[in-house]
Amino acid sequence: MNQNNKMIIDKLAGTHELTRDEWYTLLDTYTEEDRLYAASLAREVTDRVYGKDIFIRGIVEFSNICRNNCYYCGLRAGNDRLERYRLTEDEIFECCESGYSYGFRTFVLQSGEDLTYDTDTICRIVRRIKKAYPDTAVTLSIGEKNYEEYKAYREAGADRYLLRHETASKPHYERLHPEEMSWDNRIRCLHDLKSLGFQTGCGIMIGSPYQTTDCIVDDMIFMGDFKPEMIGLGPFLPHSDTPFKDEPKGSYELTLFLISLCRLMLPNVLLPATTALGTIKPDGREQGVLAGANVIMPNLSPVKTRDKYMLYDNKICTGESSSECRGCIEKRMEAIGYNVVISRGDYKGK
Ligand code: 5AD
Ligand code: SF4
Ligand code: FES
Repeated sequence: MNQNNKMIIDKLAGTHELTRDEWYTLLDTYTEEDRLYAASLAREVTDRVYGKDIFIRGIVEFSNICRNNCYYCGLRAGNDRLERYRLTEDEIFECCESGYSYGFRTFVLQSGEDLTYDTDTICRIVRRIKKAYPDTAVTLSIGEKNYEEYKAYREAGADRYLLRHETASKPHYERLHPEEMSWDNRIRCLHDLKSLGFQTGCGIMIGSPYQTTDCIVDDMIFMGDFKPEMIGLGPFLPHSDTPFKDEPKGSYELTLFLISLCRLMLPNVLLPATTALGTIKPDGREQGVLAGANVIMPNLSPVKTRDKYMLYDNKICTGESSSECRGCIEKRMEAIGYNVVISRGDYKGK
C-alpha cells in the first residue's frame, strides 16, 4: 500500500481536514488498496454515528419540465425528444400516501425547474403532506430560487433541500452549463438555504466532462468549508439526447472513493448511495453503503411517468413499482448486514 497515501487518509480520519496539496496527491495517485483502506475506515465511522441503520427517502419526481439547459441532463429544455409530464397536487399527495404505508418517513419532491408550480403551489403541497403526516420530513429538490421563495417553503414546513453545486470550480461550471446559468447564483442559493435552517444537500457528478483532479480538490475543500448536512455523489452517465452524448461515463471506483473521503471529512453527513451508482453497477448501491453511505432514495413516482424522468440513459427502477423497489432495497441491505429503518433519518449533530 502507498504509505504516503495511507498517512493522508489517516490524517483525514483524525483531523477531518487536508491541505490542498494533500488532497491533490491523494486523488492523483490513489490505488485500489488505498480506496479499500479508506472504505474500511469510512464504514467504521458510519457504524459509529448511524449504526447499521439505513435511511430511506421516497422520491416523487413530480415534473420533468425544466427551463434550464444543463449540457449533461436529459430533462434539459432543448431536448425535444422527451415526452413531458406534470403530476397534479392530488397525484403528488397520493404518492406520499402510498409511500407512508410502505414505511417512508421522508418524502423528496423533485422536479426540473418548472415554474408552473409557483411558490404558493409548492407551499400548499408541503403543508398538505406535513399536516397529514406530521412525523415525516419533506425535502425539496426543485432548483434555484430566490431567498423569499426558499423562506416561504421553510415556513410552510419543508425540512431539507437538495441542490447539487455540480462543481466548485467556476470555469468548470461554465463548461457544463450555458451562459444563462451562473455558478455564483448556485452558491448563493446554497448559502441562503443553510441560513434559513434547511438541512442542506450539495454534491457533484464524478467524471463530468472537463472535470480535472483540481476540480475535485476544489469540491472537497468547498464541502469541508460549507459543511452540508447531505452530499449527493454519483457518476456522470451520458444521455443520448444531450450535447454530452458521446462523453465517457464517470469512474465507479472514484465515486466509491469519494463517498469514503466525504464520510471521513464530515463524519455525521447523510450520504446516499445514489441511483446513478446503482445504474453504473448492479450492486453499486450496496458497495456505496459498504464505502460509507447510509441513505438510499428509492422512487415513489407513478410507474406511468418513471421512464420519462431520464437524467441519463439506462436509469434503473423505471419498470418497477414503489412497493417493488421498497422490498428490493430491504433485501439488498439485509444481504450486506444493514437494516432499512422506519424513521425520518435526520442529520445527527448540532
Ligand atoms: N449523469 C449523472 N447525473 C446527472 N444529473 C443530471 N444529469 C446527469 C447525468 N447525465 C444529476 C445532477 C443533478 C441531479 C438531479 O442529477 O447532478 O443535480
Ligand atoms: Fe433542469 Fe436540473 Fe436537468 Fe439542469 S440538471 S436541465 S436544472 S432538471
Ligand atoms: Fe428499484 Fe431494486 S430498487 S428495483
